[in-house]
Amino acid sequence: MSKGILTGKKGIIFGALDSNSIAWKVAEQCHAEGASFVLTNAPVALRMGVIDELAKKTNSKVIGADVTSQEDLDKLVDEALKEFGKLDFILHSVGMSLNVRKGKAYTDLKHDWMHKTFDISAISFHRLMQTCWKKDALAVNASVLALTYIAAQRVFPDYNEMAESKALLESFVRSFGYHYGKKSKVRINSVSQSPTPTTAGSGVKGFDKFLNYAEKISPLGNADAESCAKYCVSLFSDYTKMVTMQNLFHDGGFSFTGVSNEVIENM
Ligand SMILES: NC(=O)c1ccc[n+]([C@@H]2O[C@H](COP(=O)([O-])OP(=O)(O)OC[C@H]3O[C@@H](n4cnc5c(N)ncnc54)[C@H](O)[C@@H]3O)[C@@H](O)[C@H]2O)c1
Repeated sequence: MSKGILTGKKGIIFGALDSNSIAWKVAEQCHAEGASFVLTNAPVALRMGVIDELAKKTNSKVIGADVTSQEDLDKLVDEALKEFGKLDFILHSVGMSLNVRKGKAYTDLKHDWMHKTFDISAISFHRLMQTCWKKDALAVNASVLALTYIAAQRVFPDYNEMAESKALLESFVRSFGYHYGKKSKVRINSVSQSPTPTTAGSGVKGFDKFLNYAEKISPLGNADAESCAKYCVSLFSDYTKMVTMQNLFHDGGFSFTGVSNEVIENM
């Protein structure tokens, strides 16, 4: 099935924690399509050791970096540049909220934790793009993707402060998309994915019921992690060179469906 549409492309993939992670599937698909990349995750996640399996399978190097640390990102981008020269693609697949993890209600959030959530899940994207900008790390026509969720536009009560994180993330995508497009035709987009059973996804209260609801609303059903990975590959490829500053829904049609017959029948 692979067509080698990423042959010769070099990149960095953030966020592969285990084989359920969206980033894990993206790494597998990018490898299958001929790309080379560095895998990165927070040092605490690397200690789980699972990522080494993926590194071996995809013949890639693992470099630890906490996305909240400028020093870590500097080191990561420097090492990737040393390994590959200028980069053709980056996947930002990172999110974490302590308020969500601890089951805090939206009306009772700890604001210290909220700062941390924004730093990890959204500001990290600006930090990463600014690091690449200052080091001139991205090749002409490079493609950068961030993963996001429709709670940035519509209310999902238990998604909590991650909704505001995603709204901020999508705004950084648009703004940096403008600046980097002008500078060197780099395209920057976010992919708004269906609910997907991963560590981050399953941490949201009521996830299983919601997954089922989204499946019944979406005309194509929920998009799984593997199809999301294939969509990301298309966006890293040369077939999408003129797409930038977009929030692209990859959700089986959920975002534009008001209600479905299945949901009405279940009422
Ligand atoms: N699972 C879903 O339902 C869903 C839906 C839409 C969007 N997304 C988004 O997809 C992305 C990937 O999530 P996933 O569902 O694959 O879950 P995941 O838990 O597998 O991935 C989240 C990753 O973020 C990493 N991370 C957390 N804190 C970090 C830090 N300080 N520094 C570096 N990395 C850090 C984790 O180690 C993990 O690898 C996230 O942005 C998430 O919000 C997920």
